[in-house]
This record gives sequence, structure tokens and C-alpha cells, in this order.
Amino acid sequence: MKIAWCITGAGHFLKESYEVFRTIKNEKLETEIKITIFISNAGVEVLRMYGIFDKLKEISNGDYMAEIFTEKEQGSSSPKAGRFSLRKYDAVVVSPATSNTVAKIAYGIADSLVTNVVSLATKACIPVYIVPTDGSPGKVNSEMPYSIDRDKCRGCDDCEPRDRCERDAIYGAPIPQIDLLRCDGCGLCRELCPYDAINGGVVEIKAREIDIRNVDVLRKMEGITILERPEHFFFFVKKENLC
Ligand SMILES: Cc1cc2nc3c(=O)[nH]c(=O)nc-3n(C[C@H](O)[C@H](O)[C@H](O)COP(=O)(O)O)c2cc1C
Repeated sequence: MKIAWCITGAGHFLKESYEVFRTIKNEKLETEIKITIFISNAGVEVLRMYGIFDKLKEISNGDYMAEIFTEKEQGSSSPKAGRFSLRKYDAVVVSPATSNTVAKIAYGIADSLVTNVVSLATKACIPVYIVPTDGSPGKVNSEMPYSIDRDKCRGCDDCEPRDRCERDAIYGAPIPQIDLLRCDGCGLCRELCPYDAINGGVVEIKAREIDIRNVDVLRKMEGITILERPEHFFFFVKKENLC
């Protein structure tokens, strides 16, 4: 079985999505599962911030149909999305799906890698499963990337987290900041700060009405199934009698 896993630039459900695909990959199944990963530009940045980007190789080792394709490498026309017209995949999962990508799909836009994948997959009648980050009313807790708590930071002259960051992602004085586009979420800074001033933390986020409406539009689209959580994709794998 061949699955296309699309990742967009969302922190919410990102770790959970990774865990689901890691489990599917490691499960002892009768049929081999190959997972190709397609990542939006924002997805690459956010995956790095949460320390997951480098771990994706454990899921997709680079063999044929188990590659990792980034939007940047794929240019504007996303040639690898042509594999969907050739029906090379059994299912597409967009998890997590940002409100941005959901809105584009809802209005038929296909100007990015992930929206192209969804467009071509639905045209080829390949089932598409989407896990939106902002799909239901009410608040959700979302884990943030690392940042410096300015109340706890003592502005040390010898700031070990700043001096020892392997990606030079911490800059400025007396209270430094983290450049999240350099950060790879390794967590070393957090361990090194004696004042516990570096943390991810959890924030409460409320979905906008427009985003919920867009998810409803997707619910009614032929070939698309909305999943409330990444773990619900296991049902699909079970339905196919694979585990
Ligand atoms: C750390 C971080 C976390 C984010 N989490 C979310 C999220 O959970 N949901 C969302 O809709 N956008 C989130 N965004 C914003 C998207 O990355 C942004 O809208 C981007 O343009 C989406 O592009 P894409 O849909 O092509 O991936 C986040 C951005 C950052 C920096």
C-alpha cells in the first residue's frame, strides 16, 4: 500500500501526526506500506522548529515511493504531484492541515505542493483524508516552539544556551531572543538554562468562524474525508485489513 502524507505549516497536531505515521511505518503488517512525504514551505519551517524534520527519514527512507518532497524543490508546478494522475497512491492524508491550505482547497486553488496533491488526487478518485487544525468551534491547546521567558531570563553575560546553540539561533543581549527560522527544536538551550527561562509552553487558541466554515465546505466535497484527529487515520489502515 502506498500512502502520500502531506504536512503543512501547523504546530497543532504536528507531533501527533508524526507519531501516527511512525507507528504505521513500524507496525508489522501483511502488506508493506510505503509513505511518501510532501511538505509545504511553511511545513518545512515548522517541522524544524518542533525538532521533527530530521526524524522524517525514519518514516520515508528515500527509496522510490518513500521519498520526502519539499515545496521548494518542487517549484511552482509540483511535477511529482503528477504521480496522483497516474494513480500511484492508495490514499492521501493531509495532517496537520493549516487553515490556509484548507481555505485554498475549499475554493479550488491549487498553487502549492499540497493543494496540487489534493487537487490531482481527487481528480484521480484517490481518497483524501484531511486533519484540519481549526475544524471545530471552541478552544484548543496548542504547543508552541521554544521561546525565552523575559521574566525568568537573567540576561547572563555568559549565556550558555546562546553560546552553545549549534545553529546560532539565539541572538541579542542582555535578554536574548530565538530566531525560529534557524532553530531546529533540539532542546539543548532549554537544558542549559539554569533559570528555566526557555520553554515551549502551551497556548489556548480559538478557531475562527471562517476556518470552521471552510472545513464544512471540504466535508461536502467528493473524495474528501475530514478527520478530527490524526489518530483517526488508523481506522483507514484497519479498514484496509492491514493491521
Ligand atoms: C510555530 C507555528 C505554528 C503554526 N501553527 C499553525 C496551526 O496550528 N494552524 C494554522 O492554521 N496555521 C499555523 N501556523 C501558520 C502557518 O504556518 C501559515 O499560515 C502558513 O502560511 C501556512 O502555509 P501552508 O498552508 O502552505 O503550510 C503556524 C505558524 C508557526 C510559525
